[in-house]
Amino acid sequence: MSAWEDVDEYLAGTLLGEDEVLEQVLDENQAAGLPEIDVSPLQGALLTVLARAVAARRVLEVGTLGGYSTVHLARGLAPGGRVVTCEREPRHAEVARRNLERAGLADVVDVRVGPALDTLDALVAEGAAPFHLVFLDADKQGNPDYLERALRLVRPGSLIVGDNVVRDGRVADAGSDDPAITGTRRFLAALGEDPRLDATAVQTVGAKGWDGFAIAVVR
Ligand code: SAH
Ligand code: DHB
Ligand code: MG
Repeated sequence: MSAWEDVDEYLAGTLLGEDEVLEQVLDENQAAGLPEIDVSPLQGALLTVLARAVAARRVLEVGTLGGYSTVHLARGLAPGGRVVTCEREPRHAEVARRNLERAGLADVVDVRVGPALDTLDALVAEGAAPFHLVFLDADKQGNPDYLERALRLVRPGSLIVGDNVVRDGRVADAGSDDPAITGTRRFLAALGEDPRLDATAVQTVGAKGWDGFAIAVVR
């Protein structure tokens, strides 16, 4: 095990402890054959902290998978809060719904199945109340469009968080023609240029290798 993983394990053990609900979600995901690309325990805890920090009552997630990050977001909600989470794959959404049900969060989370852009457009069209935290974690080439829609669904003080913005350092390759990298670079450029946002990024190492989060707050 690398020193990064040792430290990740130490920090998770010290700060988070055992969590049967979250362990069961990962077991169910594995049993269903879902890809193991959920956030790490410490990254998930960051989502809970951020939701709590903004006293989020409305959270929007793009990319549900089996709901591991969704449980973390839901746990950070203020009383009466709700998560809307978007997932293209019906099979993933079904596993997530089952996991959320078992976690006692079925009433708190709305899993919307279909391409995320369609769901975001529907939320804009229906005049959805503003979200206080938006977590973008689906296809990375979609992030510029998801950001554009998200900016119509937030209010001052809302956070916009994007996962996987470093990808083992590949984000710094200006010559990459990988759509995930070019999408991430356009997403980061848009965050940096937008006068409505204060933005930063945090590189992460540990259980999920070398990656990072972009975090922006709406002015
Ligand atoms: N947030 C999850 C991991 C999400 S993995 C966690 O940390 O636990 C990315 C998910 O996004 C996959 O389930 C994939 O099916 C979904 N996805 C990919 N493209 C999508 C799209 N265009 N619209 C909605 N979901 C999409
Ligand atoms: C991968 C990891 C992620 O967190 C994600 O959202 C998508 C893909 C990966 O490791 O391939
Ligand atoms: Mg991710």
